[in-house]
Amino acid sequence: MAEHISISSNATKVEKYKELIPQIEALIEYEDDLTANLANIAAALKYGLGFFWVGFYLVKEGLLVLGPFQGPVACTRISFNRGVCGASYVQKRTILVDDVDEFPGHIACSSLSKSEIVIPILKDEEVVMVLDVDSECISSFDEVDERYLNILAHLIQKKL
Ligand code: SME
Repeated sequence: MAEHISISSNATKVEKYKELIPQIEALIEYEDDLTANLANIAAALKYGLGFFWVGFYLVKEGLLVLGPFQGPVACTRISFNRGVCGASYVQKRTILVDDVDEFPGHIACSSLSKSEIVIPILKDEEVVMVLDVDSECISSFDEVDERYLNILAHLIQKKL
């Protein structure tokens, strides 16, 4: 297993994702423990790409429950009908939010979070968790993040 993640500091976002994804693939290749893999993926994304908060909410007992994450402490339980995470769960699709204050029902775990992207991760066509990434800046996420974070979601899905 790789001991650390290395990303060129002067690279573009696309280049950073292209460097990071194969390293994450190697990181999880020989480990089958889901918690261990999600924890390392959260750290790789946070420190590789400099996001404010990166984490997983896992579907448990009819709710989304906080799983492995990196960043400030966060709310632990989210109903399916609440927040960006709930919207991603219900709609089974990636949700990009340029300005969280404009998203009805957004759950502000931190007032510093300004924009957000949430990607659903499926097993047998059911959402089993979501990957939530937050930024301290407005409009941080675009189709590049959507594309590469969905590639990452597929890597996770293959391990479920
Ligand atoms: N903002 C999310 C809640 C989770 S925190 O961002 C870590 C939402 O509205 O679902």
